[in-house]
Amino acid sequence: MGDYANLIEQRFGDSGPASAGEPENDLIRRVLARKTVRRYSSTAPSESLLDLLVAAALSASAKSDFQQAAILRVTDPDKRAAIGKLFPAMPWIGIAPVFFVFLGDARRLQRIGELRGKPVRNGTLEGFFNATVDAALAMQTMILCAESAGLGVCPISVIRNEVDTVAQILKLPDLVFPVAGLCVGYPSGDGYVSLRLPRGATTHREVYDDGALAQNLDDYDRRRDARHSIPKEQHRSNNEYGEAAFYGWSEDKARQAAKAEGAAFPPYLRKHGFTLD
Ligand SMILES: Cc1cc2nc3c(=O)[nH]c(=O)nc-3n(C[C@H](O)[C@H](O)[C@H](O)COP(=O)(O)O)c2cc1C
Repeated sequence: MGDYANLIEQRFGDSGPASAGEPENDLIRRVLARKTVRRYSSTAPSESLLDLLVAAALSASAKSDFQQAAILRVTDPDKRAAIGKLFPAMPWIGIAPVFFVFLGDARRLQRIGELRGKPVRNGTLEGFFNATVDAALAMQTMILCAESAGLGVCPISVIRNEVDTVAQILKLPDLVFPVAGLCVGYPSGDGYVSLRLPRGATTHREVYDDGALAQNLDDYDRRRDARHSIPKEQHRSNNEYGEAAFYGWSEDKARQAAKAEGAAFPPYLRKHGFTLD
């Protein structure tokens, strides 16, 4: 019999369902306890293991069987350094033992249409969205498989903030765009399981109802702060917003999201084949 109560409590701390009595399942156990890893030992994963992870990633489900994900591995030290240099606040990008980029590939289906004499317009919002979802599912499949093989990983969507330069380095053609990078390596250090929002805020039954959001957030902020309070030096935009009496997760995320990221991405997409209509 699997006892998931501790893992669920560690992940949510929300006194919600603990699935007592469910049989042992190692995958679920690992997923409940998973954590992003940003520091790696110098031991490189074997090429054969990486090949296996790529095969697993490409086994993910794919919308309409269109198979619009692509995986690009960056090994050239100059390219790794050039990408790493763009993000000095995230040194793991340049130095992780392995770096993949998960691409949404709306180009391939358009080319298939050309090869088969059936014009396909795949720069639509539908084409963009389907390719994005496929790439995200492939990445998450690699993440879970890599973690189950003892590796640690960190997705890297910040590369989209410098999408023009990254696309140039990787020679991405029109209709192919980065969804996120993925740093991979053996973990050095333990890290911690990141507390998720209470399931009362993120799950609904029959109809959507976020009436309890404010209370859920207050509870979550306090619980999260009790585990890992955000150090003062990481409080964002104090000049603009002042010092918060209590700086919890929701204060931090509101401040972060109020400074929208990713301004370079929509013009990049429009310049490179997406009409998004
Ligand atoms: C699509 C996506 C993009 C991400 N981009 C970055 C990134 O650019 N840099 C980074 O350090 N972490 C990145 N992360 C990692 C998240 O910060 C991390 O998943 C989140 O804090 C929750 O932590 P956990 O995965 O350990 O539960 C990304 C995660 C996802 C799913």
